[in-house]
Amino acid sequence: MNGKMLYAGTFDPITNGHLDLICRGAALTETLVIGVMRNLAKKPVFPLDVREKMIRAATEHLDNVVIDSFDGLLADYVKSNDIGIVLRGLRATMDFEYEIQMAQMNARLYGGNVETIFLMTNPAHSFISSSIVKEVFALGGSIEGLVHPAVLEIMKGSNI
Ligand code: COA
Repeated sequence: MNGKMLYAGTFDPITNGHLDLICRGAALTETLVIGVMRNLAKKPVFPLDVREKMIRAATEHLDNVVIDSFDGLLADYVKSNDIGIVLRGLRATMDFEYEIQMAQMNARLYGGNVETIFLMTNPAHSFISSSIVKEVFALGGSIEGLVHPAVLEIMKGSNI
């Protein structure tokens, strides 16, 4: 597909679940923009620059990926950056209710030719979330295989 696809999230930190979606999304589009939400409401553990650094390290093998950050409405970012498609991942039935609500509200806000598309998450990653990865890591459990090795190194070097 020509044009730009957006994959947005807080990525606190980026997990292998996100990365799976990013690789598959990048293969479907000319440019995949990873939109890092500043998301102060979620009180991210990792500052924005560290989250971006982790994403850069995990995606350096993909040459059509661009990393950007935004605040405010996703629909406003989409409109002002000429995004044609918004990519979302579906992990389980519980994601569906929330995702359909968000996609329908966003469709109303886009007011144009923007589509939200969904890819089913690889079942190997369906239990991962950034919160569970952070919790296990903070308590000294192994998160190997759940995040990219370079992300793990950055996490080890930070004070969480
Ligand atoms: N594999 C594994 N885990 C995944 C995943 C995947 N493919 N996709 C998402 N997750 C996890 C995330 O790590 C996150 O975990 P956490 O809650 O422990 O941090 C959780 O699932 C929820 O992810 P997501 O729905 O992407 O939430 P988010 O907060 O990272 O990002 C935005 C959501 C940024 C897309 C959304 O809040 C947004 O659009 N905000 C802008 C404001 C706005 O426009 N609001 C109106 C919307 S209609």
